[in-house]
Amino acid sequence: MSRLLLASNRLPVTVSVDKQGMRVVPSMGGLATGLRAPHTRSGGLWIGWPGDVHRLRPEQRAAVDAQLQAMGLVPIDLSAAEVQHYYHGFANGVLWPLFHYLIDRVPAASHDWEAYRQVNERFAGALADRYRAGDTVWVHDYQLALVPALLRRRIPDARIGFFLHIPFPSSEVFRILSWRAEILEGMLGADLVGFHTYAYARYFATSLVRVLGLDVDLDRVWYRGREVRLGAYPMGIDAAFFESAAQEPEVVAEAAAIRGHGGGARIVLGVDRLDYTKGIPRRLLAFERLLEHEPSWRGRARFVQVAVPSRGEVPAYEQFKHQVDELVGRINGRYGTTQYVPIHYLHRGFSQKKLVALYCAADVMAVTPLRDGLNLVAKEFVACRTDLGAVLVLSEFAGAASELAEAVLVNPYDIDAVARALAQALHMSPEERAARLRAMRERVRENDVHRWVAAFLDDLGLAPVPVAPNAVEPGGGAGVELVARLRGAGELVLLLDYDGTLVPLRPRPDQAAPDGELLGLLERLSRRPGTAVHVVSGRDRATLERWLGALPIGLHAEHGLWSRPKGSLTWAAAVELRDEWKAYVRPVLQQISHSTPGSFVEEKSGSMAWHFRQADPGYGPYQAKELRLHLLDLLSNTPVAVVAGDKVVEIRLQGADKGAVVRRLLADAPGAPLLAALGDDRTDEDMFASLPPGGLAIHVGPGPSRAPHRLADPAAARALLAELLSPG
Ligand code: UDP
Ligand code: G6P
Repeated sequence: MSRLLLASNRLPVTVSVDKQGMRVVPSMGGLATGLRAPHTRSGGLWIGWPGDVHRLRPEQRAAVDAQLQAMGLVPIDLSAAEVQHYYHGFANGVLWPLFHYLIDRVPAASHDWEAYRQVNERFAGALADRYRAGDTVWVHDYQLALVPALLRRRIPDARIGFFLHIPFPSSEVFRILSWRAEILEGMLGADLVGFHTYAYARYFATSLVRVLGLDVDLDRVWYRGREVRLGAYPMGIDAAFFESAAQEPEVVAEAAAIRGHGGGARIVLGVDRLDYTKGIPRRLLAFERLLEHEPSWRGRARFVQVAVPSRGEVPAYEQFKHQVDELVGRINGRYGTTQYVPIHYLHRGFSQKKLVALYCAADVMAVTPLRDGLNLVAKEFVACRTDLGAVLVLSEFAGAASELAEAVLVNPYDIDAVARALAQALHMSPEERAARLRAMRERVRENDVHRWVAAFLDDLGLAPVPVAPNAVEPGGGAGVELVARLRGAGELVLLLDYDGTLVPLRPRPDQAAPDGELLGLLERLSRRPGTAVHVVSGRDRATLERWLGALPIGLHAEHGLWSRPKGSLTWAAAVELRDEWKAYVRPVLQQISHSTPGSFVEEKSGSMAWHFRQADPGYGPYQAKELRLHLLDLLSNTPVAVVAGDKVVEIRLQGADKGAVVRRLLADAPGAPLLAALGDDRTDEDMFASLPPGGLAIHVGPGPSRAPHRLADPAAARALLAELLSPG
């Protein structure tokens, strides 16, 4: 079994030092409470920050270290300055509010990026130091977004997963961040990037398109020669634990006692870290409005709000605490009596057992964050209520809302709507409460945390280990071997794509005419003993003839629909030319090119193409996807194929692909030549796939490829070809 190395900013336990001495206590917050230490089963480790250990005396420190070690926990000590700049400053001062859409809380200028980067380096270093071949690494959350790429740099073939526990915002919000490219590139160091919802995964994908200009499929992206997969994995809870805790006699007794304290008044419960994302002030105002609009609830309903102290040293949190304190005071002043306190405000953390008693005592659980990655509290409440006798009021903006649709869903910004939802919940019939809870309980039970861990790790296990992560440099490293194989061939057939392989891609196709150096190179290659040169291109016949027609080489136009052998001036078609399908396709392509600025249509004898290289980097690929889906429907009974290329969608006759060229050349070749194919585009994959055993497939550029060899760019491709001519 492969060892699991986890990394998160906070360990599942935190060392706290106060007047009573030193204690090691469970950490609060979804990541630490929810994960349930999956590393222990594999003999693995969990690396993270244990809290204020720098304040411990040496003998206390030794005791803590022993305790952590026994739990498979590896402490990363953070200095006071690191806590201030990396944790409070950047992670919680910049990323946290931005990712929760609270843009006005993001400071105008932050000087904490460097500390963030350095602490991420330290985590990556700590992982690398402990890494053994075959381990699986799972990095968690926004505090460590750079760790996947930093670790990948140290251990290129490591299997790395990354999970974001907070929302990934819309790209329109994300791209406000000055370090947007660095954060994305950091996360792309992973093989699998997980989010709580599909929406977050989609926003991430959109940001990759907008910020990095990458070509993203729905659930995967090619980045620096590796495939990175994206997925939605809504986190679960340990449902069995909560269900059984809810039935323990002490918990049942405590829940009854809590209910008794309020003289039988109904309980509306809130449980949150004291965080401005959780919507506590608006929730309190909504409760006040309920008392205002339905006076019969005064004295008959009370609000219990648990607010766990959190990140108190971030100024925004400090101010927020005062705001909540004042609000509680004001509302209690307005509606309180000697017998009745409307709001019980508990500014401290509770053990999970104590929380279970509170969950069981509540009539209404109000979970109304302004934004929340998921929200485990909502699920814990649902799991505890085996009696089916309570109501969950849940924010539409919590990730958990996509799974808990039977809750009373509210817009937490709309205070009146929340007040109405609380009233609806308090008035709800027992039958309706039971029906709603039953449906949610089944889902929470089924999709528990164990299933969540297994689903993510199973998918991570499937993620391919990178095949050819490094560009091959001719004359050095793997390039030497490649050149030796090409040189060693008695008969060599070179199949060369043109655009993106021999010349860089240009905004418009007519700008890519060959330069003198390229013409000279092809000429000399064609005269090399035992060497046949073929240019296999998507270009039309006229262009190839005009640009390369004077060379003694084979030419293949329109992806192999037309071929002109070396020394001949006649072109032969590979398949019967039919073009009745063009009448359907032409208007569709014209329409899309009108509605997509910067795009245009190209028409050839056996194909049509819509080019969008100069279109908006987000809109172009989006339109291309729509176009492909539409054409696949439209053309299902015609002899044409719809092919996605590099910033182009081509519609072409079936049977006329670059693979067919390879097969024809092979059939015609006497002896057993070495076939070497160079290409950069998806259409070149047909060529690679048709190579006989022993053939060399060489991909040029960063895109996806089945080719085991890779060159950085057309310059590297030309350098490799030039090596064949040098005397070495
Ligand atoms: N929690 C706790 N004691 C408390 C309050 C909360 O142990 O007094 C736990 C709670 O059970 C839950 C986690 O803290 O597992 C909060 O996770 P959630 O996803 O709801 O919010 P987060 O704090 O991660 O933003
Ligand atoms: C959220 C974050 C976690 C974090 C937790 C508690 O759940 O996603 O990464 O650990 O809040 O916050 P804290 O800053 O105390 O670790």
